[in-house]
Amino acid sequence: MRIAIGADHGGYALKENLLEYLREEGFELIDFGTNSLSSVDYPDFAKLVGQAIQEKKADRGILICGSGVGVCIAANKMKGIYAGLCHDCYSASQGVEHDGMNLLCLGSRVIGEELARSLVDNFLKAEYLGDQPQGERFARRVNKVKAIENEG
Ligand code: RB5
Repeated sequence: MRIAIGADHGGYALKENLLEYLREEGFELIDFGTNSLSSVDYPDFAKLVGQAIQEKKADRGILICGSGVGVCIAANKMKGIYAGLCHDCYSASQGVEHDGMNLLCLGSRVIGEELARSLVDNFLKAEYLGDQPQGERFARRVNKVKAIENEG
């Protein structure tokens, strides 16, 4: 699985930690920065990671800012991007299974490194259930989300 990852200055340190972890786990990674603690604007990184998913250069994405809110709002403005801010493991997997979440947002000023690693594990191991026979209701709901998206 190819993972695109990005962060602003608030999320930089956690991004580096997660990159090390995901490298050890054998994932193919595309790191869109930022690469220092110098102040930057989170929408720029949300856009880069979102585009990588839109262009199918990545299967899923991870975005980190201070709260996780800014990158989540920005990413969800992009067509085909279904981002969730998840600070509990249940949501990190259920968001994929039921809602087709393809981008996990984290707040580095809210959670610690170990929880972040567990959240990423849950997110990456989960599979969308909407294309399985028992998942018809999930697909129906996701299709309604897509209809809203297409209305603009
Ligand atoms: C940067 O200080 C901070 O505003 C940003 O990382 C994020 O928390 C926005 O949601």
